Amino acid sequence: MNIGTFDSGLGGLVITRALIEAMPEYNFCYLGDTARVPYGNRSKETVYNYTKNCIDYLFKKKNCKLIIIACNTATFAALRRLQQEYLPQNFPDRRILGVIVPTIEEIINKNYSSVGLLATQGTVSSDVYGIELRKRKDDIKLYSYPAPLLVPLIENNADEFAELIIESYVKKFVGSDIQAIILGCTHYPHYKTQIGQIAMKVLGRKVDIISQDEFVPQSLKNYLSRHPEIERDLSKDSSYSFEITDINDSYIAQAKSMFKDESITVEKVDI
Ligand code: DGL
Repeated sequence: MNIGTFDSGLGGLVITRALIEAMPEYNFCYLGDTARVPYGNRSKETVYNYTKNCIDYLFKKKNCKLIIIACNTATFAALRRLQQEYLPQNFPDRRILGVIVPTIEEIINKNYSSVGLLATQGTVSSDVYGIELRKRKDDIKLYSYPAPLLVPLIENNADEFAELIIESYVKKFVGSDIQAIILGCTHYPHYKTQIGQIAMKVLGRKVDIISQDEFVPQSLKNYLSRHPEIERDLSKDSSYSFEITDINDSYIAQAKSMFKDESITVEKVDI
């Protein structure tokens, strides 16, 4: 059986690449919902329904044992409900994991007292990061701002416009004492280096960049070592598939850029 990775669009290819690098022996099936991206400005109910639809496809058609919801918006809007309602009714022996809890653990481990968050409008409005952080450290300061324009830049292969937009978002942290910026959207790690450089310029000091592709693979490895009953059902043929729900030349070019591999083959599927 396979490991599924799911994102609202192409952003999740960065984290999927990191997972494949860390655990190349496993089989990975990527699904990006390019037909319906962005999720970040939609209602929780809509994001839940889209996510359920994609998860259903990965379980039924791609024989996934375990799915990582790489999308932060889908994690906050759908993960708990899928775990509590959908899985017990449909696939009680399979699992769905998200990216928010590993991120919270990373921040707590680093012992920050003040952090910034860039994420979608939905994720920021939900305050999921604030709620989860304060459960573990009640005096932590969190400064959250939506950075929605980075998503269409990535989905439209328009990196040349990124600098101006990143700068306008990072400027929101001027005057704060943040020690790190959380990239709370699967798409943003694509601009990780630029965000770090621009933050240095705008804030006049170095801040850490918390990028999910750097720690989610270790978190998945830890999970599998704690759950041998899941791990033993995972095939190890190093087979990888990359599917999206809508395709055009720009998506194909951007998938190659996100995955940093010109030879990647992306296919359109109907879900
Ligand atoms: N992938 C989504 C996330 O991580 C953001 C992109 C979107 O708005 O669909 O939140």
